[in-house]
Amino acid sequence: MKSGLKWLAVAAGVVALGGTALAQADAIKQRQETMKAIGGAMGGMAKMLKGEEPYDAAKAKAAVETIAARAKGFDALFPKGSETGAETAAAPKIWADPNGFKAALAKLEQTAGAQAATAGKDLDGLKASVGALGGACKGCHDDYRLKKS
Ligand code: HEC
Repeated sequence: MKSGLKWLAVAAGVVALGGTALAQADAIKQRQETMKAIGGAMGGMAKMLKGEEPYDAAKAKAAVETIAARAKGFDALFPKGSETGAETAAAPKIWADPNGFKAALAKLEQTAGAQAATAGKDLDGLKASVGALGGACKGCHDDYRLKKS
């Protein structure tokens, strides 16, 4: 290869690498935003349970539906190379045990899918739903999210 072309190829490689790093930082941002939305939905339901906000059936149902919708495809936001950086709290086990991670996500999706009607029934229903959903959060966080130091 002529030396000029060689450098061109190297430069192109550097640009490609830069592109990947950006995509990975993007994926981290997107997954954290997804979890923030899910956390926000849970927080809204907790407020109703604590009596800080009046029980609102439509709001409760919508919150559970938000969780179901945002959980969908969450596992696609963990591309290789996004294991570290951008203050991610993702645990290495996500990449070491992708099937276990997917199963924990499926559990949340199923729970949210099944709980929307219950949460929208009455305050007792909401309480049961939040309990079930909380179990699914913990089921993944315990293994796949780094503990805050
Ligand atoms: C399948 C696994 C999984 C499930 C289920 C799950 N989470 Fe997460 N969650 C994660 C991972 C992984 C992170 C860290 C993401 C990162 O920093 O890259 C996280 C981070 C978070 C964060 C911090 C977001 C931020 O960066 O500010 C909140 C809040 C959160 N989760 C709430 C919840 C709630 C509430 C539920 C249940 C309704 C839930 N999660 C269910 C995997 C999961």
